[in-house]
Amino acid sequence: MSQLSLSVDIAGLRLRNPTMNAAGVLGISASLLKRVYEGGAGAVVTKSLGPAPRSGHFNPTMVIVEGGVLNAMGLPNPGAEYFVSAIKALRAEGVPVVASFFGASIEDFRDVAELLSEAGADALEVNVSCPNVQEELGMLGADCLNTEKVTAAVKEVSKPPVFVKLSPNVTDIAEIAKAAEMGGADAITAVNTLKGMAIDADFKRPILTNVTGGLSGPALKSVALRCVWDIVQAVDLPVVGCGGVANWRDAVEFMLAGASAVEVGTAIRERGFGVYKEITTGIEGYLEANGFGSIKDIVGLAQEAA
Ligand code: SIN
Repeated sequence: MSQLSLSVDIAGLRLRNPTMNAAGVLGISASLLKRVYEGGAGAVVTKSLGPAPRSGHFNPTMVIVEGGVLNAMGLPNPGAEYFVSAIKALRAEGVPVVASFFGASIEDFRDVAELLSEAGADALEVNVSCPNVQEELGMLGADCLNTEKVTAAVKEVSKPPVFVKLSPNVTDIAEIAKAAEMGGADAITAVNTLKGMAIDADFKRPILTNVTGGLSGPALKSVALRCVWDIVQAVDLPVVGCGGVANWRDAVEFMLAGASAVEVGTAIRERGFGVYKEITTGIEGYLEANGFGSIKDIVGLAQEAA
């Protein structure tokens, strides 16, 4: 196989290849994130970190459903401050770190962003889209004005590029993306999980203690792909695709829709940490077989064909 360069630049974040883990289920410790990087990811994304430690919801917080996984973890995390040393340790080993974070107010978002920026994170991913917590914690991003205000507040205090992670649980994701762009976002991550639920017929009750959860995995892919498509048409920002990416073909489809990189989460369950290397090798084979020289050559190609 030839030596194609698979590196990508997302608003100044330079990656050796276009894959990362998705914040959400994984990323709660430096050692797990290191395994993601050793598995071949171009960068690692932390579990969403908040202004204070949070235990999340009681079990069961996860259930396997047709085509994916429903989780309602409730943003458990050790707090942003606690994670500063993990970010520094990962960076000292040459691992690029995207710090995902959330807050209960615009001030929270600003404070946590400042802390993570000063900790040396290579990029910040603003989680305004968790479907599993009360509105002001999880879904500020359901509203254009709040999305713009949160993004602007985060940008005020952030040195690294700021990605805003959007929810598919909105009427028009393109409008929300425009609001993030107005607030000064450097990139968009699309998407977080799709709100759903599961009921146990024998026990005659919802399975998750939170009743509803966020759907990830293959069942989410076509929704996520459509969201990326709409966002690419609406804003002039790089987009990171997320949702149901399990193999190189999925990753390529997201890039053809206009994503510059992809995040992979649920697929780790079945394919292990090596999924990143598998996907990167597959993308390389695809570029070579189709006569492309770099990732850039295929980003948005399907948009031109539509
Ligand atoms: C969770 O912790 O509930 C999942 C995180 C997310 O979807 O943002």
